[in-house]
Amino acid sequence: MKNKILNPVALIVLTLAPLLLEAQTIPPATAPKENPLILGTAYHPVEVHYYDNLLPPEAQQPGGAIIRVGEDYIGATGAGAFFLVRKADDNITAERLPIDTPHDPDAFDAAADPVVSRQFFRVIDLNVRERPAGWQLFASHHQWITEQNCLVMRVSAIELSRDLRPVGEWTTIYDTTPCMTLDKGNRGRIFAGHESGGRLAWLAPGQLLFTTGDQEHDGWNQPVAMAGSVAHMYGKVILIDVEKHSGRIYSKGHRNPQGLYIDKAGNIWESEHGPRGGDEINLVREGRDYGWPRVTYGTDYGRYQWPPAAQVGSHAGFEQPIYAFVPSIGASNLIRVEGSEFDAWQGDILVAGLASRSLHRLKLDGTRVVYAEPLAIERRIRDIELGPDGAIWLWGERGDLISLTVAKSQDSGALLFQECAGCHTTGVTSGGLAPSLFMIVGRRQADRTDYVYSEAFRGLDGVWTEELLDRFLTDPEALVPGNAMTTVKVADPVKRKAIIDYLRDLW
Ligand code: HEC
Repeated sequence: MKNKILNPVALIVLTLAPLLLEAQTIPPATAPKENPLILGTAYHPVEVHYYDNLLPPEAQQPGGAIIRVGEDYIGATGAGAFFLVRKADDNITAERLPIDTPHDPDAFDAAADPVVSRQFFRVIDLNVRERPAGWQLFASHHQWITEQNCLVMRVSAIELSRDLRPVGEWTTIYDTTPCMTLDKGNRGRIFAGHESGGRLAWLAPGQLLFTTGDQEHDGWNQPVAMAGSVAHMYGKVILIDVEKHSGRIYSKGHRNPQGLYIDKAGNIWESEHGPRGGDEINLVREGRDYGWPRVTYGTDYGRYQWPPAAQVGSHAGFEQPIYAFVPSIGASNLIRVEGSEFDAWQGDILVAGLASRSLHRLKLDGTRVVYAEPLAIERRIRDIELGPDGAIWLWGERGDLISLTVAKSQDSGALLFQECAGCHTTGVTSGGLAPSLFMIVGRRQADRTDYVYSEAFRGLDGVWTEELLDRFLTDPEALVPGNAMTTVKVADPVKRKAIIDYLRDLW
């Protein structure tokens, strides 16, 4: 058991905590815009900026979310540290807000068995609404109920001034029922807090939708299957009346719904994690059952079936997902692109992937998904927001923020190289179409052993200097008559220089 006696250091920290919090508000941490990554996608070259180390390491914990508040954003980490995130020219600043954690992790720590994964007890999502004197901030989170020795999922709210400072304390808007005890269950796990859903979205003024996961109470890991049962507010989309502090089931049969977005036409888009495979995108309709745990396109970890289902790989008898990912992407939040600078993405769904470390763009035809295009962001993506300027903002898991914009600078070497990337790689192996340009500046001509050069190229034995590359790109045929790249010419000297600089600086 944990030692509950406070040691002197802890006492000092507790006494100083308000001061420390105050001190952290000035100066805000800033993350400079790093060199962008240019991602070539089907319809847009995308400029990806990573703002790293935005939040101090001690405030970080997986989970958390970001929400737009006017022109700014409020971000929360899983640990319940709140930050005002603001764009200032080419920088992003993150200022610690003097808002307490809504969830009391210490009470959970004191009560829970040490084997419980503490990092799953967390703040999950945020939302806001405007008030006459400022804003009201909503947070969804786990809450330990000490008197009953069990746990609920709670939606709390706090009033903020116009400049986003707290006015008063957190108040409880809604608690799930029943309160869940930490039982070992059938398979030994006692707290599956990472399967809690927890997303918030406004259906109408005062009407807040709240998703809850079943936390493995699926009739297999734990004896009671809660998602399909009307007696348990887990595995549900719940409609909360914010003024009345009441909630009712809107839809059921969800596993771990971590994504929720209501589009301008009123469609409710939801994403949820399958077990192993079968992450779903659903259109949520009132009163419907989405089938978990009775049907899924996924299987259990380590086997080729999902025992509670009658049949493998079937969704029969329940609401069909709009789309399912196999293998799982670890679907987190999703949005629909409505009014963004990404013209060619209008109406598409963007789904954040945790395990896939990618953003997934779903092309829709009505409500049918035609295809899914993955964008390799190479980070676990927890949340997505559309900025007022049309940029797309991604909330990473480790105090990082990532912005996506349409790449505009036509002189950017990375962007110009997209033209070459149709044939050339820059990696250690060549594609079938052309030799890799790995370390091309200073490399011997025609020296790749994994590519079969043309007759004309095989006779070359010089070195690719910047000057020679410039001549080659100006007119390949003039430099190497009869070569296989004849049709590609870069007439503009500025562009040639940008491409060569880019290739040189890659290593
Ligand atoms: C349509 C396909 C295609 C495109 C587009 C293309 N290349 Fe090539 N490139 C080739 C092929 C094929 C070769 C090999 C030529 C041969 O064997 O005759 C080559 C050869 C080269 C070489 C010589 C490599 C070596 O191993 O000696 C360089 C440098 C090069 N390309 C640069 C570029 C750059 C920079 C761009 C973009 C502006 C570009 N290429 C666009 C097909 C292409």
